[in-house]
Amino acid sequence: MSESSIEKIISLAKRRGFVFPGSDIYGGLANSWDFGPLGVELKRNIKDFWWKRFVRERDDVVGIDGAIIMNPRVWEASGHLKEFSDPLIECKNCHHRFRPDAIPGVTVAKSRRSLDDSKPVLIIGSGVKCPHCGEDGGKYFDGQDVRQFNLMLKTFLGPVEDAASTVYLRPETAQAMFVDFKNVLDTTRKRLPFGIAQIGKSFRNEITPGNFIFRTREFEIMEIEYFVRESEWEERFEHWRKEMLNWMQAIGINPANVHEEEIPDGERAHYSKRTIDFEYDFPFGKKELYGLAYRGDFDLQNHQRASGVDLSYRDPQTGEQFVPHVIEPTWGVERTVLAVLADAYDDSEEGRVVLKLKPHLAPYKAAVFPLLANKPQLVELAKTIYDTLRKTMSVAFDDRGNIGKRYYSQDEIGTPACITVDFESLENATVTLRHRDTAKQERVPINEVALRIGEIVV
Ligand code: GAP
Repeated sequence: MSESSIEKIISLAKRRGFVFPGSDIYGGLANSWDFGPLGVELKRNIKDFWWKRFVRERDDVVGIDGAIIMNPRVWEASGHLKEFSDPLIECKNCHHRFRPDAIPGVTVAKSRRSLDDSKPVLIIGSGVKCPHCGEDGGKYFDGQDVRQFNLMLKTFLGPVEDAASTVYLRPETAQAMFVDFKNVLDTTRKRLPFGIAQIGKSFRNEITPGNFIFRTREFEIMEIEYFVRESEWEERFEHWRKEMLNWMQAIGINPANVHEEEIPDGERAHYSKRTIDFEYDFPFGKKELYGLAYRGDFDLQNHQRASGVDLSYRDPQTGEQFVPHVIEPTWGVERTVLAVLADAYDDSEEGRVVLKLKPHLAPYKAAVFPLLANKPQLVELAKTIYDTLRKTMSVAFDDRGNIGKRYYSQDEIGTPACITVDFESLENATVTLRHRDTAKQERVPINEVALRIGEIVV
């Protein structure tokens, strides 16, 4: 996709109510976005599909919904207070601060969130300009130390703002799944291997947010901590790698736009022994969509040590007792929305935009139209069909303008099926069902409409 396509997607998203700039009437808040009526449906469909696929349909995964604000000792034990940082550099001309990888042509030899304490080296390519003031990067970035900036967002609990009341908004959902490991084990009696899943908000004080909803300071993660015996981690890692690839296909992400990137030693997060990033060809470049990490027993061991609570697992058959290891597949919700929109956006036909979303993700599964708004019998029958369908799926109703415009309007938001009630409907109880991707039409008995849409949406 070209860079201009992101502008088209942002424009469609705002115009049709997928994503609005946050705090818009106050001039916005940089890089904050609100999901509108269609965006929230798309996002919810993605999350529901994920939950169904990875929690409800699996016998080896259970869900939780942990608190966003946790005891600060969690973040001490997890290493986030010390290690969860990104490199930061400053333009010595305009004093704007950046994450180095946000500036084309700038690289850091030792990278982010690493336990390795060797000094990062800043490499400035030729022709680099400061993205803020446009001045010569060679002059204004070079020769400085790369500082580490902790990404945790802080706040205070209670009326006193001091060190004792300082708490953090979670930067990842993962920790609740480690902290609740024993409670889940005791209440579900799950046996290894098994996973704990969670969907929820995370917060990071990103140095360089941007690219629409790609990098924000508040976002949602869908994540599984999958507990295994150390000896089986490679096999389970491979299982989740395939599951993640299958997921992408199931939500309509074109495999040709996805690239697996093995993250080398020294560049992985502080807890990870192996990480694969699934990168996607976003309109603004190839960037991380999802991650898959082998966290070893790093987290459970640390929490066991810091809390003094035994977090080991006892094999009911052999009696063997050990601290499980963890495979962590992780999916960003907003990045999923963006990749899904980017792959679905089709303006190849002159004068028509079609959002070719997988029907099961579409905000509306169908739209119902009376052919003419001024014919009460048509409107009444269309309303009856609309009311019936609405009980089991999300449906739109539209009686404005001509029928062609109504079709195009639904195409643009990805509605897979349009139902038109016309004069023939009054005679033989059939309607026209028009398909989004082919624009083909078929005649369907009214009492079979729900069934037909169900077939399309599967
Ligand atoms: N528990 C592991 C973890 O949090 P991560 O790669 O730091 O891993 C998980 O984040 C996913 O969250 C990423 O793969 C990405 O999809 C998404 N993500 C990370 N930072 C983000 C941000 N600032 N804005 C939007 N999504 C983000």
